[in-house]
Amino acid sequence: MIKAFIFDLDGVIVDTAKYHFAAWRRMANELGADFTEKENEKLKGVSRMDSINLILSWGGVTLSEADKLKWAAQKNEWYLEFLNKMTPSEILPGVLPLLKDLRKKGYKIALGSSSKNAERALRKVRIFSYFNTIIDGTKTTRSKPDPQVFQMGAQRLRLKPEECIVFEDAESGVEAALAGGFYVVGMGSPKNLGDAHVVYSSLEGLTIDSIIQAVKNK
Ligand code: BG6
Ligand code: MG
Repeated sequence: MIKAFIFDLDGVIVDTAKYHFAAWRRMANELGADFTEKENEKLKGVSRMDSINLILSWGGVTLSEADKLKWAAQKNEWYLEFLNKMTPSEILPGVLPLLKDLRKKGYKIALGSSSKNAERALRKVRIFSYFNTIIDGTKTTRSKPDPQVFQMGAQRLRLKPEECIVFEDAESGVEAALAGGFYVVGMGSPKNLGDAHVVYSSLEGLTIDSIIQAVKNK
């Protein structure tokens, strides 16, 4: 029986994936490198330091560990310029009605994000109070595709993975959820999220029951 819904943040609840992309690209460009939108898919769900390592390797750029930390902090400052301007209008379609219905019907709601800015983002768009538990990049030691973030969420709720549905827009996140034994809804395109139990392009108009039925039908 499904008892909880665990949401990724960036690209599932709010459209911040585009802000991460813009900030990382700015950094890459300042270092004389660049990367494609396709490569960007590999960054989704991945921690800040793992991301910088991937971008540098794609661009053939070598930096000292100290410089990596400096550039990652700079990227975060650029990212926060976007984040600090966010309003509740940037919650993705269908998310708020779903959260409200989940609360009403007594389902548990968790956040499972790699971001260290997750709490700030939830507060900015005023949905922090919907979550029973928040697991984010400040609490995990291993980045997706490791299932740790979702396992910690399920543990906090005292539930088994098979009692939870994870919502993910990242290849690494779908992989993480499956590795942990969770049901997973992919948010985006079946081209790269095809391993998920079901893939939607948007949560708009979806009901709790239709989502549960879809993941169980695979
Ligand atoms: C994930 C994003 O949610 O969080 C990644 O998909 C991001 O793009 C990662 O790199 C870490 O985020 P932050 O806010 O801690 O730099
Ligand atoms: Mg995401």
